[in-house]
Amino acid sequence: MNNLTEKVIIRDNHRFETGHATHEDAQVFYKRSHIGIDALKREIEGLRKFNKIARSGILPFNVPKLINHDEDTVIAEYIEGIAPKFITGDTDFTAFFIDSFVAIDELTRNAQPKPSRYSHPNNSGQMIWQILENDIRACDEHLLIGEDRLQACVDYLKSNHSSLEARFMHADFTDNNLLRDETGNYWLIDYESCADDWPRWYNVVNFTYNRRMKYPELESEMKYILRTVISKCGPGLTTYDEIRFIVILRGLSLIIEHMTEPNDSHATNDKMNPELYARVLQSIDSCLNGSIEQWLK
Ligand SMILES: Nc1ncnc2c1ncn2[C@@H]1O[C@H](COP(=O)(O)OP(=O)(O)O)[C@@H](O)[C@H]1O
Ligand SMILES: [Mg+2]
Repeated sequence: MNNLTEKVIIRDNHRFETGHATHEDAQVFYKRSHIGIDALKREIEGLRKFNKIARSGILPFNVPKLINHDEDTVIAEYIEGIAPKFITGDTDFTAFFIDSFVAIDELTRNAQPKPSRYSHPNNSGQMIWQILENDIRACDEHLLIGEDRLQACVDYLKSNHSSLEARFMHADFTDNNLLRDETGNYWLIDYESCADDWPRWYNVVNFTYNRRMKYPELESEMKYILRTVISKCGPGLTTYDEIRFIVILRGLSLIIEHMTEPNDSHATNDKMNPELYARVLQSIDSCLNGSIEQWLK
């Protein structure tokens, strides 16, 4: 985008440069992709769709307006706000997450249920369980997982992918991607993971699972959010199997993300510690041996 002046970079990594700048006399937020147009297409489409569903008036957060885009840059409304941090005991913020996940679930129902991305091979023809197995085996210390457990995970993903229903989803709905403005309103940002084919429960499981694993002091809030969202959205026959699937997927992905250098699919820089590893393995075991309800209580 040529007509951006007074650029101030907020963050620049191997994937994106983000910042604010002046565009036609207004302050705007911009994101420039270093990894091609596809990553920006998701950001643009995501912003568009969220702007559309925000018109329902039932979302508890606001969505920045999409202003313009070209081959490598998207510009959006600049939000003056600060990133809220989830701390234990924050009942208002807990309720905000519940209301957000429930409202999004309501607004993204498909007329016909469709299979999720995990029922299709990737561009190289591999299914998710093959990708995860290969990535786990390529990690240092992968044997800590144990052959039996790894095989059981692969078998579970292989046998249960078809119970997942595809939904349009932000897929990175966390306190890191919210801004709170001076009037106390929340704004959802960072639409680069948006897609139509995420599994229905991905947002809420991803958010609660990652926080629960990394910040054990948030365990009771995270369990409460997941349990409440499931009950408010109306669980179906396969809901717990779908939750298990996503926990196993996220558990294996956390191990991979913390044992490999940042790349196109993750920006995680911190390394796995033994306590985190133990919690991840325990969560995977709860899913494999069927005691997920217990794990949520
Ligand atoms: N619309 C916006 N207005 C103001 N600041 C924003 C806006 N969108 C993002 N930011 C800021 O830029 C940072 C990075 O943007 P984000 O889209 O979250 O990219 P990433 O997490 O991939 O680096 C955010 O953490 C936030 O501080
Ligand atoms: Mg972000």
